[in-house]
Formats: sequence, C-alpha cells, structure tokens
Amino acid sequence: MAIEPLTLTDTDQTEQDKKLQEKLKSTGSIPTHIAIIMDGNGRWAQKKGNIRLHGHKAGVESVRDITESCAQLGVKHLTLYAFSTENWNRPAAEINGLMKLLVQSLRDEAGRLKKNDIKLVTIGQIERLPEKCQRQLQEVKELTKDNSRMQLCLALSYSGRWDITEAVKQIALQVKGGAINPEDINDDLIGSFLSTASAPDPDLIIRTSGEFRISNFLLWQLAYSELYITKTYWPDFRRDELYQAIYSFQKRDRRYGKVKNGHTKSISASVINQIIS
Ligand code: FPP
Repeated sequence: MAIEPLTLTDTDQTEQDKKLQEKLKSTGSIPTHIAIIMDGNGRWAQKKGNIRLHGHKAGVESVRDITESCAQLGVKHLTLYAFSTENWNRPAAEINGLMKLLVQSLRDEAGRLKKNDIKLVTIGQIERLPEKCQRQLQEVKELTKDNSRMQLCLALSYSGRWDITEAVKQIALQVKGGAINPEDINDDLIGSFLSTASAPDPDLIIRTSGEFRISNFLLWQLAYSELYITKTYWPDFRRDELYQAIYSFQKRDRRYGKVKNGHTKSISASVINQIIS
C-alpha cells in the first residue's frame, strides 16, 4: 500500500508560528499579491560541494513553506518565477533535471494544494515544456480549479517581454478587426491582455540571493511594487524571512507618484515664480 508522504498541514502549524502570523496581521496590511524571484539554488548547492540540481531540489521545500505560510496569512495571490525564457539556455542536463523535479513536485504536492484550498495557475509558454510536464500541470490545475483561498501562479518559460509582446499582438489584431479603437488603449486595457489578467499587480516583489535585478520578470505589472531583496539563497528562504519581508512592506510609504498626505499645501503662482527664478 502506498504511504502518503509525511507533510506539515495547517493543523500541524506551531503555536509560536500562529502567534507570529497574528502579530504580523496586527502590525499592518498583508500584501494581496506577492511575487518572488527564487534565486540562488545553484550557488546554495555549490557552496555545499554539490551539483546545482541539489539546490533546485532543496528549493522545492522553500516553495512549499512559502506557499503554505502565504495562504495562512491571507495572501490572495502568490506568483513564483520558476523558469524563465532565458533558462532554456542552461545545460540540457540541468533543464531535464528541473523539469523532472517539477513533475515530481506537482505529483507530491497536488493533494496538499487541494487540501489547503489553493488554486494552481501558470503563466508563460507552457507549450514549450516537455509533454509530461504539461500533462502534470494540467492535472493539478484541473484538480484545484475551484479552490479559492489563494491562487498560486507558476511562471514557467516566462519572460516579461514575451508577455508584453503577446499582449501587443492581440491588441493589434483586435484593432485591425475593428473591435478596439486605438483611442481606447490604456493601462487597464493592456493589463487585461497580459497573461496575469486574473491577478492584481503585485504589491511586494521578493528577490533572493542578493541580486539587484528584475531579470525580465513581470515588467509591466511591477510598476508600483515594493521591492524586498535579501542575500539569502532561495533554499534557505523560509517563512521567518517572509515575515520580515512583509513587515518591511508594512513600513513602506506607498505614494504611487503622489505626495504624502499633509504635504499638499497649495502655493500661489507668485511663490512658484520666486522659487524657480
Ligand atoms: C534560480 O536559481 C532558480 C531556478 C531557475 C529554478 C527554480 C526552481 C525551483 C525552486 C524548483 C522547482 C519549482 C517548483 C515550483 C516546484 P539559480 O539556478 O539561477 O541559482 P544561481 O543563481 O545560484 O545559479
């Protein structure tokens, strides 16, 4: 008889962790959408004298811990950059290993996603992934399609430029067919043609491993996201540091290009002229 893998469920959550989450909820708002550039798997493995695939395998544990803690906190959307368009340029052995790991992880985690009421979706050129991977993704998407606690979006064979290019092509076709008037093209319309249309723009983007880059991730959608960059390699990034990232987010002053409340005193034209002359 097959034995279910030993996994930590919501009910196994420690009292200490529950308290930490309650505290975080009381210190400010929890981001609706968190997006993560999971980086540093290879370096994590190499530092331990292992090949890179060990890092990716260890990274799956972080995916599980972060997914579950986000759902527990009330995050509604979690987007993970799991494989970029550029990652196809890696050695074939690493790509094969990653794809196998993805299939294996989806198999292992399907029941847990279902139980935790998490819906799996994907963005990216899924048709470029191996057949087996596509089938497994489809299976888990189907299994979790009615879940509503949180949406977990895996960006696979994804790049921000690809996303924008596809949206532009679609809009151009609609304009050509007369369905869209060029005058009506605005931020919202473009957003609705992107692969992420089912989610609001990310509030918080986390990048692990200390690199200060966006690496062709959600280029359009990150316009006003708050950034949290940590030196921690992805396999070591667990819920304790997620809480730090959210706490840091809560302390930010999100102004969206406007001025801070209380800094809106009107000034007369003569004062403006005096200052700039
Ligand atoms: C970046 O580290 C990580 C990736 C390209 C793959 C991420 C994949 C996983 C965490 C495992 C499978 C994912 C899921 C969703 C089950 P890197 O290899 O670029 O590390 P480096 O910068 O140190 O070389």
